[in-house]
Amino acid sequence: MFADLPLPKPDEIVPLMIQASEDHRAEKVDLTVGVYRDDSGNTPIMKAVREAEKYLAVNRTTKSYVGPLGDPKFVALIQEFAFQKKIENKFIRGIQTPGGSSALSLILNLIKKAQPDMTIWVSDPTYANHGPTAKSIGLKLKEYPFLNRETNKLKNDSLMGTLESLGPKDAVLLHGSCHNPTGLCLDEHHWSKIADIAQKRGFYPIIDTAYQGLGISIKEDAKGLIIMAEKVDDLALSFSCSKNFGLYNDRVGCAFLMGSNEQEIKIAQTQLASLARPCHWVAPQNGAEIVKHILTTPELKDMWHEELSVMKKRIIGLREKLSLALQVETGTKKYDFIAENSGLFSILPGTPRQMEILRNDYAVYGLDDGRINLAGLSENKISYLAKSIAAVI
Ligand SMILES: Cc1ncc(COP(=O)(O)O)c(C=O)c1O
Repeated sequence: MFADLPLPKPDEIVPLMIQASEDHRAEKVDLTVGVYRDDSGNTPIMKAVREAEKYLAVNRTTKSYVGPLGDPKFVALIQEFAFQKKIENKFIRGIQTPGGSSALSLILNLIKKAQPDMTIWVSDPTYANHGPTAKSIGLKLKEYPFLNRETNKLKNDSLMGTLESLGPKDAVLLHGSCHNPTGLCLDEHHWSKIADIAQKRGFYPIIDTAYQGLGISIKEDAKGLIIMAEKVDDLALSFSCSKNFGLYNDRVGCAFLMGSNEQEIKIAQTQLASLARPCHWVAPQNGAEIVKHILTTPELKDMWHEELSVMKKRIIGLREKLSLALQVETGTKKYDFIAENSGLFSILPGTPRQMEILRNDYAVYGLDDGRINLAGLSENKISYLAKSIAAVI
């Protein structure tokens, strides 16, 4: 049956993760996988999640299927959280999904069904799953300029110029906050300009929000989405609870569609559910139940806010300390961008060969494109990491 199938190209990150886990050098710094880690290198279960799990273990009365759109209460809570405010004169409808990945996949499948000739534009560079997701659905894929690798700043002019050249047959995938892999933040001015261009040129914005609360704050990290939602007629949002609730393997997320025609959005929402039917049919409920309980229980909500804030502050602190240590080691401000970036990631300006040398000779593990996960760093390794980077790059 499957004899003619070739072995798919492995995901770059998996062999590196394995290599890092098998490296027992004491100085090892593993900055590969994109998950939050505490100072001792663990990806902890949040206390609020533990408390919700305890409560649900006793009080849940069923594990029966939720409907094809998911749990409406959960979806409404995530909508409120993601958008942070009511968007006037727009209709928003969502569906519960197994994580942000499925949310994006469903949105792209819906686009393919409605407009088979659309081109999906992703940032150069972008999250490793974006391109393959669009391609596997049979959508055309192109890149818009984003990171200037020389300066580690946004390629503002060429980004805006490219967006100005797009039209109604284009959809532009934007990271809501904490861009993966660059950590570059779009400010309010950028978002506002992108929204104006989208409205003028008629391209379709898709926002991927996977790190809300881990950048600047829950509210600040939603600003780009709010600006877009208030200015454009239509957009889609894929939302993940993997990182900000630490529910990676519970697969918790939502896909939202926003538009100014209520009937159109209602039908499109049902279309999302029909696209999920031959795949996962209904979304897993366990993680969604945990999120719902946290968001509706004031003490747990406060506890979760506090934990999320501690995680975010740890990342900001690591960024500041690493960039300072690199100032000392290199005698330059070349790495100041690390403190200016937000979220888990930044891109080191190293070649794939230099990243390999860092792994082999220094036990410092980042990806070949230079991506490092700052949240994988512990305080006592900052100086060693800075010395290693300065020695190699
Ligand atoms: C930008 C971005 N979107 C989506 C995801 C996937 O999220 P999930 O685990 O909820 O599928 C990630 C995970 O790393 C991500 O970085």
